[in-house]
Amino acid sequence: MPKRREGCRITCSILFKNAPRAYLLYHAKAKNKMLLENAKFITTENPRDSVAPVFRKTFAPKKEIRSASLTVTARGIYEAQINGVRVGKFIFAPGWTSYKNRVQVQTYDVTAMLSGENNTIDILLGKGWHYGNIQRGSFDTICDPCVIASLDVEYTDGTAEAVATDESWQYAKTGILYSDYYNGETYDANHVYGDWKPVVITDGKKEALVPQIGEIVTEIEEVPAKTYFITPKGERVIDFGQEITGYVCFRNIADIGDRIVFDHGEVLDRDGNFYNENYRSARSRIAYISDGDKQKWYHPIFSFQGFRYIRLQEYPTNELYLGDFKAIVVHSELKRTGHFTCSDPMINRLYENVIWGQRGNFLDVPTDCPQRDERLGWTGDAQVFCRTAAYNYDVNRFFHKWLGDLALDQAPDGRVAQIIPALWDPDGAFAWGDAATVCPWEIYRAYGDITILEQQYESMKKWCDYVYHKGDGPDAWGGGGQYGDWLGLDAEEGSYRGATNDLLLGTVFLAYECDLVIKAAKALGRHEDVAAYTERRELVAKAFRDTFIGEDGLLTSDTQTAYVVALHFDLAPDRALFAKHLADKVHANGDRIQTGFIGTAYIMDALTDAGYVDLAYSLLLQKEFPSWLYSVRKGATTIWEHWDGLKPDGSVWSRDMNSFNHYAYGAVASWMYGTMCGIRPDEENPGYRNIKIKPLPDARLDYAKAELETRYGTVKSGWEKTADGFLVTVVIPEGATADITIGAKTEHVGAGTYTYTMA
Ligand code: BGC
Repeated sequence: MPKRREGCRITCSILFKNAPRAYLLYHAKAKNKMLLENAKFITTENPRDSVAPVFRKTFAPKKEIRSASLTVTARGIYEAQINGVRVGKFIFAPGWTSYKNRVQVQTYDVTAMLSGENNTIDILLGKGWHYGNIQRGSFDTICDPCVIASLDVEYTDGTAEAVATDESWQYAKTGILYSDYYNGETYDANHVYGDWKPVVITDGKKEALVPQIGEIVTEIEEVPAKTYFITPKGERVIDFGQEITGYVCFRNIADIGDRIVFDHGEVLDRDGNFYNENYRSARSRIAYISDGDKQKWYHPIFSFQGFRYIRLQEYPTNELYLGDFKAIVVHSELKRTGHFTCSDPMINRLYENVIWGQRGNFLDVPTDCPQRDERLGWTGDAQVFCRTAAYNYDVNRFFHKWLGDLALDQAPDGRVAQIIPALWDPDGAFAWGDAATVCPWEIYRAYGDITILEQQYESMKKWCDYVYHKGDGPDAWGGGGQYGDWLGLDAEEGSYRGATNDLLLGTVFLAYECDLVIKAAKALGRHEDVAAYTERRELVAKAFRDTFIGEDGLLTSDTQTAYVVALHFDLAPDRALFAKHLADKVHANGDRIQTGFIGTAYIMDALTDAGYVDLAYSLLLQKEFPSWLYSVRKGATTIWEHWDGLKPDGSVWSRDMNSFNHYAYGAVASWMYGTMCGIRPDEENPGYRNIKIKPLPDARLDYAKAELETRYGTVKSGWEKTADGFLVTVVIPEGATADITIGAKTEHVGAGTYTYTMA
């Protein structure tokens, strides 16, 4: 066994196999008036220029310890250690919130980590979301990077002692020479802590401290390196076989002073070469300077990347052992609740890609992508994916936190920022700002937890009011800074925005906002609002008809997305006419999709609800470009941002806006659960207290089945093809009821297993 050296990470913390008993105590300090009342924020002499400093205090207990907790947070991200061992398993603590309004504080039970003699408390401070390149200068005026902590010890005789951050702490440099989420990390393993200096007291704004609200981020799984190869360009590349978000943990095999350096990438180019131009300015480079200790494993401490491949820039040998590399999957600790499978392996792979897309992008906040110079909480993406997310995982707590930040970052006039936590002034784009109304409702629908509506109701109304009062009608509702049907394939050459008219989309979303405020108001018993927003909804629907429907009864904006939203949000005066027109358009396009972020989220439901479920299946089963399965055919292991991220000829769409891990189009998985297998919550009895079961099989598949762990137990629904139709099997858990619809017949049932035959 190598000897522990000060200032070095001895072993990789993979899955925290040896994690000591230092678990997080949720809301441990909630009762207190002010968190960390007796502690002071401490920093270094040049806080903005310090790279990952360590703050230290030693502590010798006076008596026998009964219990001890460490309460800590940072303006930045921290890793706390006691006697050289990491405290807890929360990576990138304290997480990302609307920092100007709130910073989460964590309390860990550290009783088992303390010795009866001298103890060393170290707190390493990284830049993270607070000061790294990701924050784009937006917090420069708030305060300097700093930490605050208190070790609270209770002795067996009932007396207590606190060791809080104050002037008596010291700081020093660590071996982390460079660290940033986007650009990666440089670490010198030869560094030994020394040259301790007294800390500087600073104002980290204590009033913003709140107890932990969200889920923690942690190491979830390790993915072994799969293959190693030399590319046509002569570069050495390792493939992990799966795009993940996290970091590579590797064994040092270099001699003292030699370096191991590698870059991250998602795909290979047409010629099989390493490619990461699509990361744009995010350098994503890890550099390790060896101390010659070849037993040692290392991974970055304050940086993460989205990747499937790494390119070895510097590595001492070509005799590479794959076992020396592991990809560590890092994301919010969420409970998996949904599972789906069917007889088509490509659809199953698509479904797995949706799961990996969520895993790669639910890292404390729902992000657009995990790799390029964004990794931001884009509201539009989260909004369209929220329903799917709530099938796959229990995201109740996760969205409580993020939506709380959305409300805090909302402008007084109701504008919602495009990204949450906000890094620039809120703008208020339709479909993006609609996260304010859509996500709370989806979370309530999935979990039946009324607190999400109580928490968000004012924010929902404010957003709806903002859009409505922008002007007297459609001329204003969709105006201003908009993203439109983002990345729709009917976009003009050189544009990211699909062809669907913005004013039409803005009007549709205003109607949808009214619908959701009405539903929330009903759930909360706010009857006066129900009447007011119902009246508004009618005005908006009339304005929609007057403005966007031509003499032929069809829409003036003739795109797939325009018909999809008109049908889905119940604004089509003649549903049959609109549905036929949409179906014709899809057929004319070779049974292929042309929609962007907005249309894609709803096209499957719009077609199904309008009586064209067979066409929805055709879209799902389509393998030619553009389609979901096209990306699967091209080897995707996550959901792509662009239908043509990799073009049919193998070339790359563009270096800009070309992420291979963007979950938005993964919204299709809600259709797999909700329509193919037919498991939906009853909005009147949310959280699956009463379950709506209505599977819609298709003979092009042999079987499909899904199960979902709800607050009432596990519900299952699936079907298999038989000689003369389908055999449907449904399981309803104890404590829940269900309305099961098979064909034209619906029956209300209690817990049990039910089988039906369908022609
Ligand atoms: C992001 C998107 C986001 C969009 C706004 C992009 O840069 O990656 O997913 O929604 O900007 O249109």
